[in-house]
Amino acid sequence: MNETAQNRRPDGPILAIESSCDETACAILAPNGTVLAQRVISQDGHADFGGVVPEIAARAHLALLPNLVRATLQDANIAPATLSFIAASTGPGLIGGLIVGSGFAKGLALALGIPFVAVNHVEAHALTARLPGIVPDGAPFPYLLLLVSGGHCQCIAVEGVGHYRKLGGTIDDAAGEAFDKVAKMLGLGWPGGPELEKLAREGNPKAISLPRPLWRREGCDFSFSGLKTAISQKLAPFGKEPLPRQFAADLAASFQQAVADVVTNRIEHALDMMPEAKLLVAAGGVAANTVLRAALEKTAAQRGLRFAAPPLRLCTDNAVMVGWAALETWREAAERNLLPINDNALRPRPRWPLEDMASRFEAEIPSA
Ligand code: KG4
Ligand code: ZN
Repeated sequence: MNETAQNRRPDGPILAIESSCDETACAILAPNGTVLAQRVISQDGHADFGGVVPEIAARAHLALLPNLVRATLQDANIAPATLSFIAASTGPGLIGGLIVGSGFAKGLALALGIPFVAVNHVEAHALTARLPGIVPDGAPFPYLLLLVSGGHCQCIAVEGVGHYRKLGGTIDDAAGEAFDKVAKMLGLGWPGGPELEKLAREGNPKAISLPRPLWRREGCDFSFSGLKTAISQKLAPFGKEPLPRQFAADLAASFQQAVADVVTNRIEHALDMMPEAKLLVAAGGVAANTVLRAALEKTAAQRGLRFAAPPLRLCTDNAVMVGWAALETWREAAERNLLPINDNALRPRPRWPLEDMASRFEAEIPSA
């Protein structure tokens, strides 16, 4: 067997680290993607500030990672010496956290004498649907991905490993950011999305009329700032007085409905732009919202498409998706005779457009 064939699949488990925002996470995957262990710590030092504080996040990653990695290895009963490679989110995200996580991963890989694989965090969200067991009968390319979280809001045509086309994205706030800001205006805790969804269950989604930004506008960009302004105007007459519970619930339900309406309208346009898609995938924290999920499921069904949303623990930031994206990258590189990968020289990137990912497979080396 030549070296390339041996390298086609890593022969031992791999370890992955996620640290691009406020989740510190570690996972260990078998070469076929089976999750052997995973741990996520959602940092708790940010709630008082009503948002993620980058400096606090970076310091927390630094404090948490050594024990987290040790504990995850113990959970999987894996000796570090048996690992095949180490992967870490290397962008996009908050630069402090990226430096800590990818620096830790590079150091560990160097000490063990194994490769380091840099993972694009958004690509990891995009490929999660292909993790074995997530979508019945699998998620073959191409599919449409709706990524809606606190930091991202995009429609992406996922055409292959390393091959992505951004069809549209937010021109102001991300969907999760809008949920968080509106929840704050309603006096709810942070992160606001789940709290707002809970309150909305007591309300009437038709009670208060709100705008539907970019409704039926060409393309599939998103905008949420007008919706946020409309909410603050509805709240203005109350000044500093406490809001009547029913009014707050009606406002929450009406806002949630407006977001679901806008997002499904944008998705319809995205599907028009990608008629070859057979599957619609929703990912990111906001994909946990049951009203939005139901609306997306209905839109997909009307078009004869399958719909999938990974379970919540894989929708929000986690290290399993980082490990899986690294395994997919590794396999793709092997198929193109590009192995071995070693991204030690790759610097963390606060911005890292998905369109850049194809270049990692461009320098095709002819097989011997
Ligand atoms: O993917 P995620 O954990 O982190 C990143 O932002 O990358 O997403 C967190 C976002 C927060 O804005 C949170 O409020 C929102 O997802 N979220 C929700 C729900 N659960 C989480 N938004 C609406 N409804 C929910 N049930
Ligand atoms: Zn994310």
